[in-house]
Parts: sequence; structure tokens; C-alpha cells
Amino acid sequence: MRIERPRYTERFGAVRINEVQKVLELDSGRAKEMAPYEDIAVKKVEEDAIKNFEEKMLIVIPTKDEKLKLLEGVISGIPHECPILVISNSQRKRIDRFRMEKDTLNQYCHFTRRQAYLIHQKDPVLARALGESGYDYILDKDGLVRDGKAEGMIAAIFIAMVLKKDYIGFIDADNFSPGAVWEYVKCYASGFYMARSPYAMVRIVWRYKPKISEGIYFRKWGRVSEVTNRCMNSLISVTTGFETDIIKTSNAGEHAMSLKLAGLLSYASRFAVEPQELISIFEGFGGVLPMACKSAAKHGVEVFQIETRSPHIHEDRGSEHLQDMLLPGLATIYHSPLCEKETKEKVLTELLQQKAIGSGEEPPVPWISPPPKNIDIQKFTKAIGEHLESSSALEDK
Ligand code: GDP
Ligand code: CO
Repeated sequence: MRIERPRYTERFGAVRINEVQKVLELDSGRAKEMAPYEDIAVKKVEEDAIKNFEEKMLIVIPTKDEKLKLLEGVISGIPHECPILVISNSQRKRIDRFRMEKDTLNQYCHFTRRQAYLIHQKDPVLARALGESGYDYILDKDGLVRDGKAEGMIAAIFIAMVLKKDYIGFIDADNFSPGAVWEYVKCYASGFYMARSPYAMVRIVWRYKPKISEGIYFRKWGRVSEVTNRCMNSLISVTTGFETDIIKTSNAGEHAMSLKLAGLLSYASRFAVEPQELISIFEGFGGVLPMACKSAAKHGVEVFQIETRSPHIHEDRGSEHLQDMLLPGLATIYHSPLCEKETKEKVLTELLQQKAIGSGEEPPVPWISPPPKNIDIQKFTKAIGEHLESSSALEDK
């Protein structure tokens, strides 16, 4: 893969946020000696280097009642070396969709000889393991993991720790294009290859997010992303004193991080999870508040934003969904201790304009789960170990 080197890096305390880097070539050919200066502006990441990172990266697919053909398509796009975890919150009652997912996955893994795990978010063993390890923040009153993609993602971080992976990457199950999924994973691996710090995150920028109505229109920014990015950039600008538009990925559902970093961040529920990760990085390592971890402060926290070639085509859930996403994301910015008056006013103006709040109202305080680093991973592993093995989709190893 050939990819632009970061041309500009914004520094915010110990955080290094790289400007968007574009993918130039999906396949950059055989490994060979490079001409002098060939890689000044463009980095060639060799296949083997990519594979080394893929092996160490758990790819997590959160899913809830998605079409089976979509889920299978997504899985088929994930490079063979990556272990897969499907964390499902699909219905089990009327129609047992989870059972159908299991059958599909078993068949797929049988023929492709690959490793994948499938766990239901409401699995009582998972909930018990979380409770026993001391992380009961995402459990509901029935003692099971709460609904929500974010809750599934947090559980997946613990499972990646049990599997002793170094990286975790997320990919939604409602993606129509297996080729795009393939590219996301290559971008994750290339980002980690370029990282100089073990505390790194890679967020995907879509080249286009087409709208299909009559014909097809290759749109670049969704409304929610545009507004959330603007407010996120305002928070950085006011804090550093220099106006910036560096953040282009506040809502990047497609993103990956080193587990070292994943352990240090706090997680908001539902659609606020992605912006909250950035807020949590800025709070923990921006230098305004006390540093959240000495080692990470020393190495720095690196954020990569990589723009893919493939357009992002996924299930369109209409405009009601838009407000659902905007409010919680902006609430994480609004309620951050880093957020000053100017950015707060910006957030309120945007929310009023979108009719997401009334005049005089404030966005609700987000529900935030603390960093996973303090849990007792031995206890978690003990409680889930065998059960995880039995959740493997490759039955006849
Ligand atoms: P959008 O793409 O950001 O508009 O959000 P989606 O509604 O497409 O959700 C993103 C992904 O999360 C999809 O793959 C959903 O199937 C999945 N998802 C949604 N809710 C849940 C949930 O409660 N648990 C899990 N595990 N996945 C979920
Ligand atoms: Co989607």
C-alpha cells in the first residue's frame, strides 16, 4: 500500500494529531529497494509489514439484526491473518437471528479455515465475567450488558486482552462493500506501522459517502460529522490559542487503536463513543489536566486519520437517526472539563438549529464508563476462558 506521509501534525500537549493522509495505491507491488528520496512524501508499506500487524489485531464487528448477507460480506473482506470477533445484539426470541449468524459464520469459517468468535452481548457468562473482574459499569439492572454498540465495543476490548492481541479495530456490519472493509484493515495496519508511539489510534476518513436516491451522488461529509468536527476543532483551537481544522474524524465508526491506548480511555454509550474517545485523549494527554498515564505521556499519543479510496456505502437509516447521533456526540464535547464558554455556545447554537434541544436547555450529561485499565484481567480470563473457546466458529480445528 502506498500512503501519504503526514504533512502536518497538530500538537496538543502529548497528543499528536496527524493531518488526513490519503491512500495513493492499494497495491504498491513487490518489495524492492527504494530509490533515494522516494519515500520523502509518500510511504510504501510492504505486504509483509502489513501482515505482521494484521496478526496482532482483533477485528471487531458489532452487529444488531443486520442482514446476514451483509455480515457475511463484511467478514469476507477481512484479511485472513486477522482474528475476528462478532459481538452481536441480535434478537433471539421470535426469530433466532443469533443462531442464524452462528450458522453462517460456522459455514464460512469451515471453508476458509479461519478463526472467528461470535458472542452475544446478552450472554450471561460475559456479564458475569465483567462483574467478577470489577467492571460492572456496562451492566443493567438485570445484570446483563446494556444495549448499545458502545457497550459491545467495550466488552470486545476485554476479549482482545484475553486473546493477548496488541491492537483492536472496529468495522460496522452494515457495510455493503467487502473491498472497502479490506481497505479499512490495510489502513489500520499501515497506521500502526507508521506510529512511533505504542499508544496510537487510526481513524478512517471516507473519500465519499454516497447518497443513493435517483442516481448516485458522491457526497463527502455527512451533516453530523461536519457539525461535530467543527465543535471538536473549536475545543482544540480555544485551548491551544491557534485556530485549527485538523479533526476530520469525530464520528469515525471505523477506527482502530493499540490495546495499550484502549485501556486508558473512557467510553460514552451509544453514538457518543467515537467523539468521546478523542475527548478522553485530549483530557488525559492534552496537558491541560493532569496526565492520565506517565508512560503514554512520555511516548505521546498519536492519532492518524487515513482517507480511503473506496466509498463508504452502508444501510441508510433516514434523518431521524441524524438527531439521535448529533446530540450525544456534542454532549460529550459540551460536558468535558476542557470545554470553555466559546465552544459551549457553539454547541448550543448548533443543537438549537437542528432542533435537538429547546432554547435555554442544555444537552444531557453523557453516561461514561471509566478506562478498562484497572480491571482484573486474570479474573475476567478465568471466568470467560473456556466459554470463549466454545464461541469459536471454526469447529473442526
Ligand atoms: P451508523 O452507521 O453510525 O449510522 O450506525 P448503525 O446503526 O449502522 O450501527 C453501527 C453498527 O453497530 C452496525 O453494524 C449495527 O448493526 C451495530 N449495532 C447497533 N446497535 C448495536 C448493539 O446494541 N450492540 C451491538 N453489538 N451492535 C450494535
Ligand atoms: Co451504519
